[in-house]
Amino acid sequence: MTTNQIRVGIAGAGFVTARGHIPAYRRLRNVSVEAICDPNIERARTVATEFGIPDVYADYDEMLAKTGLDLVSVGSPNRFHASQAIAALERGCHVYCEKPMALTVAEATAMADAARKAGRKLTLGLHHRYRPEALALKPMCRAGELGEIYYGRAAMMRRSGIPGYGSHFTSKELAGGGALYDIGVHILDLALYFMGHPEPLAVSGVTFAEFGPQRKKLGGWGADILPGPARFDVDDLATALVRFASGAVLHLEAAWAFHGRSEERVQLVGRAGGAEIYPALLGQGTSLKVYQDWGDRPVDITPELPRFDVGQQARQIEDFVAHLNDAAPPTVTADEGVILTRILAGIYRSAETGTEVKV
Ligand SMILES: NC(=O)c1ccc[n+]([C@@H]2O[C@H](COP(=O)([O-])OP(=O)(O)OC[C@H]3O[C@@H](n4cnc5c(N)ncnc54)[C@H](O)[C@@H]3O)[C@@H](O)[C@H]2O)c1
Repeated sequence: MTTNQIRVGIAGAGFVTARGHIPAYRRLRNVSVEAICDPNIERARTVATEFGIPDVYADYDEMLAKTGLDLVSVGSPNRFHASQAIAALERGCHVYCEKPMALTVAEATAMADAARKAGRKLTLGLHHRYRPEALALKPMCRAGELGEIYYGRAAMMRRSGIPGYGSHFTSKELAGGGALYDIGVHILDLALYFMGHPEPLAVSGVTFAEFGPQRKKLGGWGADILPGPARFDVDDLATALVRFASGAVLHLEAAWAFHGRSEERVQLVGRAGGAEIYPALLGQGTSLKVYQDWGDRPVDITPELPRFDVGQQARQIEDFVAHLNDAAPPTVTADEGVILTRILAGIYRSAETGTEVKV
């Protein structure tokens, strides 16, 4: 092991760490995964054996106390993100924390403050920013090709994809929310990234729970069912209108389950141009189009998309690790996570009160 070796500890031995984080760190030459913790110690041991991770813990604080870690990857259920990220930052570790950042705005703010105070980096697993369309479009947004984006639509709608009735994903207490928190967060983040994370002002949201309570439309993950009666006290569809201080507006939709065609889409309408990320455009040979007028003539632009050998989550992790010692903030910042949390938590408040709420 070299002196520059980055020693990583993993919180959670479930799907996202075993199939995402750990393989991503293991690709990197200057990184070693030293420890893993999960209250399900058998699961932690199985994952440790599969990947040759030397230290296994049932308890997160014990892992932090016993191992001289440089970076902690938090892939536990949402409820633990804030406390685990803050504890790691306070011990001088950098943190890669899964989405959604936290259950509440207060928690998210405390995480961002803890990173600032510790002088360590905190990023969030919002890897859609690393998809080819995003890598092609973001520089065009930066260069002003769309002008100021005043309207956006962001949708992540799955026809059938509820992650286990009675898993942590479907428990309000453990997850904080359902489809909106789980997948709406990805597409909201992507839209805000292109818009430049404008200051949100107010949201008006509505949520539904149609299929979860009927135990219909199960997806293929989150099969870790908690003891006791199966719980589904979160949303399986949410829709919202987000208003920004700039006057811009974003329409957001997220569903784990609905009667309709699955879709993942971001549409941006700017003063100088528009853009659309939409796999249905693949029929036209692309999943990204940019729309402008040249004079009075409408012109469709099809930017070339980069190709990669590894997935977007692995590329986000590689980018985070490569720039740990830079002065610049990571690509996904904690403050952007706070903005996301303000909007998402605001949507739930709005849905409960039946009114638009300030965020
Ligand atoms: N970025 C993405 O695209 C993506 C994809 C999947 C999951 N996630 C996120 O990752 C997190 C975990 O999801 P998953 O699919 O791996 O779930 P999972 O059910 O497969 O695994 C969760 C694991 O966490 C363990 N755990 C419970 N309490 C813990 C604690 N206090 N400390 C450490 N581990 C604990 C469980 O025993 C389980 O092994 C969630 O926050 C989820 O939103 C993100």
